[in-house]
Amino acid sequence: MFASHLLVLLAPLVASQTVPAQLYSNLIPQKVLATNKALPVPVEYPQYTDTQVGKWLYFIPDTWTSGFFPTTLYALNTRKNLCGATSANGLNAADWLTLGRSASNGLIPLELHNTQGHDVGFLSFPFVEELTINPTNKTALTAVKQFAGCVQNFPGLEVGIIHSAVADLAARFDPIVGCTRSWDTADPTDFTVIIDNMMNLEILWVAYGLTGNNTLRDIALAHADTTMKNHIRPDGSTWHVVEYNSTTGVVIRKRTQQGFSDNRSISHLTGLIFIALHELYSTWSRGQAWGLYGFANMYKHSKNVTYLQTATRLADYFLDNLPSDGIVPWDFNAPLTPPPRPADSSAATIAATGLLLMGTLDKTNSQKWINAAINLLSKITNLAWRPSWQSLLSNGTVNWPANNFLTGIVYGDYYYIKAGNDLITMGLAKCP
Ligand SMILES: *[C@@H]1O[C@H](CO)[C@@H](O)[C@H](O)[C@H]1NC(C)=O
Ligand SMILES: *[C@@H]1O[C@H](CO)[C@@H](O)[C@H](O)[C@H]1NC(C)=O
Ligand SMILES: *[C@@H]1O[C@H](CO)[C@@H](O)[C@H](O)[C@H]1NC(C)=O
Ligand SMILES: *[C@@H]1O[C@H](CO)[C@@H](O)[C@H](O)[C@H]1NC(C)=O
Ligand SMILES: *[C@@H]1O[C@H](CO)[C@@H](O)[C@H](O)[C@H]1NC(C)=O
Ligand SMILES: *[C@@H]1O[C@H](CO)[C@@H](O)[C@H](O)[C@H]1NC(C)=O
Repeated sequence: MFASHLLVLLAPLVASQTVPAQLYSNLIPQKVLATNKALPVPVEYPQYTDTQVGKWLYFIPDTWTSGFFPTTLYALNTRKNLCGATSANGLNAADWLTLGRSASNGLIPLELHNTQGHDVGFLSFPFVEELTINPTNKTALTAVKQFAGCVQNFPGLEVGIIHSAVADLAARFDPIVGCTRSWDTADPTDFTVIIDNMMNLEILWVAYGLTGNNTLRDIALAHADTTMKNHIRPDGSTWHVVEYNSTTGVVIRKRTQQGFSDNRSISHLTGLIFIALHELYSTWSRGQAWGLYGFANMYKHSKNVTYLQTATRLADYFLDNLPSDGIVPWDFNAPLTPPPRPADSSAATIAATGLLLMGTLDKTNSQKWINAAINLLSKITNLAWRPSWQSLLSNGTVNWPANNFLTGIVYGDYYYIKAGNDLITMGLAKCP
């Protein structure tokens, strides 16, 4: 059994796909170290770059993306442990663990106050990494528990009430809706859930593992089940946003926020009679990537195959709807031209990392998922690898409707590095 399992995992090595060498370039530690040295004081974190020269823009810690740069430093520590630190691979340039720990400190005040809603899951990532290295680190233990909400920091507040100033995810769960609330809204009965929220369930599993508090696990299961029911279309594509009425639990509307189009009716489409025969929705590729990764992660923790089947439907949609050049567009249904349809390199690296997770969990199809992941990484490297930029990759779409695209993106780079690490861990790539 062990032998055949290995064969399945090793098979892609002899397949046509090759892992891009840039995934292990010594430019990666060089750039990450330079970015670390340039962190403003008091600390702010890089989120995305300008479009011309690829220079990072920095944001205050109370921003949904703040955890990704410290987590990137931990990822280079992981790489150092996998590959050793040499001048050839560039990993000898710094003590990545010390840098990761130090860069995490700016996130600690957010445990008690932040305005990031469900994104506390992403903010907690560096502390989750710390616990894999030092499971008794009190700072990291407290952070994970606080962000998840398994300690009662806020007496008097009830589950299901919005607490815009309150940091924890569990407090955002509403049993009538069956989800944690993603964004806060002016009308509190307008309960908004976005597909991205699937990624933030990780913090609930980690905190459940630390404390044994079943409520946290049950919230993750309920959120995933409700999302499975309402966010996914019959063809395996996803809505970005589902709004529920928190009084009644019913779905009020399904729509996009960052994708190309909502569910518009025929009257908005004079002249496009053929398209109007269908509901004209579109699928935002990063949401689809968060979704496939999030459901694979639910399977990893719960071992309930329903979640793997759901991840499979989302992954199949993602892969079947790639254009022939294999480059992930920011929205699968945005027209090629006009307007021009930029790529989203972050959707590509998130999906690739999620597919590698599926490759380790789904023995029957592991070769398919691994090949698809390496293909996404190769195609995006060819398009978007930018030696002269501060980010590793260009061609990220932060937010098309807000006219923010053709940038580097901190989480796109993080998942690029993580995918490189995972390929080594899985025995599918060698350290250079
Ligand atoms: C514990 O973790 C925190 C942040 O995660 C870090 O700042 C601190 O240095 C760590 N402490 C030790 C003793 O490693
Ligand atoms: C478990 O977590 C829930 C949700 O945050 C919380 O309300 C409850 O008090 C916790 N239970 C214990 C025993 O700590
Ligand atoms: C939710 O339902 C309640 C009761 O029917 C109603 O008063 C409220 O306006 C609804 N909220 C939204 C956002 O539709
Ligand atoms: C999409 O719009 C059509 C026409 O307005 C409506 O019948 C349908 O229920 C809508 N679908 C969703 C999922 O909101
Ligand atoms: C797996 O999840 C599905 C969907 O939530 C649920 O109906 C089913 O009971 C779960 N199975 C097990 C064994 O827990
Ligand atoms: C990738 O980015 C370059 C500029 O950095 C741009 O010219 C090109 O059109 C982009 N391609 C896609 C598919 O987004």
